Amino acid sequence: MFSPWIILPEYADEFIAPEDDLKRCQCDLYPITLREHLWSVDSALRKLPLMPLSPESTSLAPDLSIDSAIQARELTKRYGNFAAVDGIDFHVTRGEAFGLLGPNGAGKSTTMRMIAAVASRTSGTIEVAGLDPQVHGPEVRARLGVIPQQDNLDEELTVRENIIMYGRYFGLPRRYLLDKADELLEFAQLTHKAKARVESLSGGMKRRLTIARSLVNEPEILLLDEPTTGLDPQARHILWDRLFRLKERGTTLVLTTHHMDEAEQLCDRLIVIDHGRIMAEGSPSELIRDHSTREVLEMRFGMDRNAELATALERDLGAAAGLGFQRVEVLPDRLLVYAEDAESALKHLHLGGHKPVTSLVRRSSLEDVFLRLTGRSLVD
Ligand SMILES: Nc1ncnc2c1ncn2[C@@H]1O[C@H](COP(=O)(O)OP(=O)(O)OP(=O)(O)O)[C@@H](O)[C@H]1O
Ligand SMILES: [Mg+2]
Repeated sequence: MFSPWIILPEYADEFIAPEDDLKRCQCDLYPITLREHLWSVDSALRKLPLMPLSPESTSLAPDLSIDSAIQARELTKRYGNFAAVDGIDFHVTRGEAFGLLGPNGAGKSTTMRMIAAVASRTSGTIEVAGLDPQVHGPEVRARLGVIPQQDNLDEELTVRENIIMYGRYFGLPRRYLLDKADELLEFAQLTHKAKARVESLSGGMKRRLTIARSLVNEPEILLLDEPTTGLDPQARHILWDRLFRLKERGTTLVLTTHHMDEAEQLCDRLIVIDHGRIMAEGSPSELIRDHSTREVLEMRFGMDRNAELATALERDLGAAAGLGFQRVEVLPDRLLVYAEDAESALKHLHLGGHKPVTSLVRRSSLEDVFLRLTGRSLVD
């Protein structure tokens, strides 16, 4: 790991007005564009010069004796009386891919911001690579790569310049950055766009550039806040592939998402979070095993009939043997039948004279886990 020079002042807290806090939380981990960021740094430097860390703290090499990348206990963030994060406990093991899965407003970004040392906590504890972000903000940030929920690239700079300028923020030497930028552009499959302005990139390319940029300091831990929201399937798969490669290299990945397929694809372990609280924790397969059936039958009988049929279906299926029937869920547009053997459940219903307009048998997913735990769908 590179030992960057570190900006000492806590720029995020110092230079962002509290009234901007809401906007900041909703958008970003690092809420400001690079240009503003550098302005902040410039301002900061007028007060405190760029300084290398002291010898004791300069050693940014990972302490391999610490198995835990992140450890949170009773972590809480309140805005007035409202608890955005309400006393959560979790740990992330070094080298694993850990997910925070939850709907809008669950507290995912707020948690990420506390990890990233850009938001203070109200109570509880958190350690990142053994350090308290609130006490050792610069050291923690130096170990992290951050992909905010919304890209905050500098649109007026070229693709390559974005990486170099970001590296300058870490105080990394220009010579190092010139080579590093080329390496990262190749990694992000953006070499052909090196001289293009950011504004000319597609959404997927911007996301890849944000990821490339976040790797400039060779972070131990990568925080990804909804890395693929808004991208088409192909762009998502390219990003997933890049994240797999980083994981293979030993980078710890912490990501938020409300896409269950993304969580299932990428995460070794995850927490399901809602209203600032943890609803469940485990690997995707453990969560599905513990909170759902193996299969799900989705049926549509027409908007008006779905709800009225649910009780009859529940009675029919409940009386049948060998289906492993669990329950029926009524969604606005369809019915979900939870059963170990949903194919046989469908046959049984056909034999009983039920004729859905459409039917589909599928495996249970994390969406079903979430529905089971909260009674609500993940995507609003
Ligand atoms: N500065 C603030 N002041 C007051 N409330 C806030 C502030 N920042 C966040 N919140 C609230 O905290 C809750 C959690 O917000 P957060 O951004 O962490 O959610 P999220 O899980 O990331 O949601 P999304 O999926 O929409 O990004 C929301 O209800 C949000 O409105
Ligand atoms: Mg968010």
